[in-house]
Amino acid sequence: MNFPERFSNLPAYAFPRLRALLDHHTPGGDVVHMTIGEPKHAFPAWVTDVISENTGGFNSYPPNEGTPELRQAFCDWVARRYDVTLDAETNVLPLNGSREGLYNVAMALCPESKNGQRPVVLMPNPFYQVYMLAAISVGAEPVFVSATEASGHLPDYTSLPAEVLARTVACYICSPANPQGAVADHAYWSDLIALAEQHDFQIFADECYSEIYRDAPPVGVLQVARDVGADPERVVAFHSLSKRSNLPGLRSGFVVAGPQSTARMRQLRMYTGAPLPLPLQAAAAAVWADEAHVEDNRAQYREKYDMADRILGNVPGYKGPEAGFFLWLPVEDGEAAALSLWQATGVRVLPGAYLSQNDASGVNPGKGYIRVALVAPKPDVERGLTAIRDHLYGTQ
Ligand SMILES: Cc1ncc(COP(=O)(O)O)c(C=O)c1O
Repeated sequence: MNFPERFSNLPAYAFPRLRALLDHHTPGGDVVHMTIGEPKHAFPAWVTDVISENTGGFNSYPPNEGTPELRQAFCDWVARRYDVTLDAETNVLPLNGSREGLYNVAMALCPESKNGQRPVVLMPNPFYQVYMLAAISVGAEPVFVSATEASGHLPDYTSLPAEVLARTVACYICSPANPQGAVADHAYWSDLIALAEQHDFQIFADECYSEIYRDAPPVGVLQVARDVGADPERVVAFHSLSKRSNLPGLRSGFVVAGPQSTARMRQLRMYTGAPLPLPLQAAAAAVWADEAHVEDNRAQYREKYDMADRILGNVPGYKGPEAGFFLWLPVEDGEAAALSLWQATGVRVLPGAYLSQNDASGVNPGKGYIRVALVAPKPDVERGLTAIRDHLYGTQ
């Protein structure tokens, strides 16, 4: 049997890799899960009522492009959050969670070549793994740009050689960043937009953590694009209910883009999309319209940030996240630290190297880190963080 070569050399996905590392060793205490970023706070109880009230919709094929009410709910949210006016017909599309959109955007929008050469898709390193798969799937070369402490934990795309930028058709950028919790500020976004305009590529902005923050709401790419008067096709922004509203199982997100990009993504969805069932579209519209539960959710994460600062504040190199719900903790070797922590304490964390690739000089920028998710109930997070401090850092 002939199978495609393009996926033959993929490393195992992070979580099977973690199971292979840890699962044949006995945990050294009651297990605390701090690996997967699956939101665990309660979602609004009324979501199930909205679904029940709309079950008649299971009788119909749902519209691929979303109901008018859902598309309007996206636009109303963007207007409230970013003070940016969108057109519900031409600027937004629903997604079955942002991951699906982050993959399909490359299919819909990345050209086959640029300046007669193989196209490049830029991505931060470490990164959310779907970016790499999207690039490979469209025959583009994924170029991994290290996002380290030295670069403020965001990739510095402006430092790339002209040869790479000349082939670049798109860049992925995650802000607030998974895993580091760094936030792109206005200057970062405007520099990136200027670079994209200069070299004529699109920005795929993954902002699915935008509502989980410590102090000020992170500035959004749409605000900056408006402020600098960017070409409306330059920026494609992704949002999700998974983290904002603790609904990863609802599979609801949306994408914002210029009219031509939106039309191309819509057309691809017409052929290949798996639209969200109508009762879930109704629920999603109601959830985007409500902010009370989002504030409550944020308050719970703030308590966890404070807890992390209190427990880990004296650890050398510790910096609490600006946003999102991960800690990105420096260690000597992430794999060794995760294994030893598991064997000594039962706390499960993810080696940073499982989220990153070797850079051009063979260095994996995630190797000296572990990623710790703050999604578990507070007592578990407290126990996990204390074990991390005592076992990995021996610091009080
Ligand atoms: C950086 C990042 N982007 C996108 C997603 C996808 O989330 P969803 O498909 O649930 O919207 C995740 C989920 O963990 C993520 O961490």
